[in-house]
Amino acid sequence: MDNWLTPNTRHDENIVMGIDIGSTKVSVMICELTGTDEFEILGIGTSVTSGLSKGQIMALPELVKTIERAIKRAQLSAGINPVYCVINCPQHGVTYQRERGEATIQADSRVIKEKDIQGLLKKTKEAAALPNKTVLHLLASSYSLDGTPVINPVGRIGSFLESEALIVQGETQTVKQLIACIKTLDCQLKGIVIDGLALGEIVLTQQNREKGALIIDIGGQFTKLNGFYDGHLQWGHVFPIGGATITKDIAQCLKVTIPEAERLKIIYGDACLANCSPTETIQIVTHQGKQTIKRRYLCQIIEARIDELLKLIRKEIGDMFPTFTDVQITGGGGLLNGLKQVISQRWDKQILDRKNGPYQHKVNGITYDTALGAILYARKKEAIGYFKPNKSQIIQQFFKF
Ligand SMILES: Nc1ncnc2c1ncn2[C@@H]1O[C@H](COP(=O)(O)OP(=O)(O)OP(=O)(O)O)[C@@H](O)[C@H]1O
Ligand SMILES: [Mg+2]
Repeated sequence: MDNWLTPNTRHDENIVMGIDIGSTKVSVMICELTGTDEFEILGIGTSVTSGLSKGQIMALPELVKTIERAIKRAQLSAGINPVYCVINCPQHGVTYQRERGEATIQADSRVIKEKDIQGLLKKTKEAAALPNKTVLHLLASSYSLDGTPVINPVGRIGSFLESEALIVQGETQTVKQLIACIKTLDCQLKGIVIDGLALGEIVLTQQNREKGALIIDIGGQFTKLNGFYDGHLQWGHVFPIGGATITKDIAQCLKVTIPEAERLKIIYGDACLANCSPTETIQIVTHQGKQTIKRRYLCQIIEARIDELLKLIRKEIGDMFPTFTDVQITGGGGLLNGLKQVISQRWDKQILDRKNGPYQHKVNGITYDTALGAILYARKKEAIGYFKPNKSQIIQQFFKF
């Protein structure tokens, strides 16, 4: 029921590019699937995003060039030009919606078949359809048969089937433009994966997803919340506030340029005021020239925005707050000094250490988490998969040069 575009049929599909189109940077990772559960990272590349404003495609040719640059860099580092790719979806207009579905089983035997489930999910998808939106994921999280919860209803006997599903939709216009963009680059799109599902593969273990975990991904212009429990993504929300919002606040309050505000945020910034001594001073370059200010003043600007963001997040989570016992903070904005400290103090939650993620022995830093996660999620959903080369393919590979 996901939006996978083409079936997986050829051996060279073992080499796949994951493309993360972020509001500040595009990251590309090239991986070779070397077994049903294994992969090797072959290459990486990034480029600064242009053509995208607040997650909306404003200039497609500019965006195409940005993606092309990141792909070229990754291909150069891998020494290979793969065709197949999986991408994420820019955040503008991404919505999450829970939907209940029900169907009466009419067949004589009343044995539930796969086609009954597919029919129920199709009806759920139709009921959830929003104008100008395209369903990116339909994630069924639970079923019940004649009022009794069941994990998999196929093969069971019953007459009334119900389902609970999370439906994630993106803007139709954006999705169409993305598909056109990938075609322009002579790549073959194998699927679109939202950031939360991709990140879930990288920063959470299956145990975290079962127990209840919230990923807070603070990017450039957006903060994405993705909540997992009982093993599935069950809830999500996107706020149009991110690391770039804090940089802009600093630039406005201190009357400095955006690059200077970015420098100050990363080097001297702290979300936790208790970490700033009231007497410490820093040098800044304002529009009027060099100045000395109290570091605490910079941190107060940051703290005010973080306070607003955390209040918004808390309000949006509402009654589900106790469900997420663990919190994973990620995205470039999540690297802000003192942020994890503030969140753990305020919410009394277990802040997960990304070092305990399932693939941390393979990945360095956070830049390619979404790109790699998109590949791994696509493999999990069998949109891509490992193909054991047959003899003739090995001979063809051998005589290629
Ligand atoms: N060490 C750091 N401390 C604080 N902020 C940082 C740090 N490093 C990066 N950032 C911020 O992270 C943000 C970019 O994050 P990221 O790369 O995750 O965004 P993105 O994936 O392009 O955007 P999005 O996911 O919202 O589409 C920028 O605003 C940048 O200032
Ligand atoms: Mg991102």
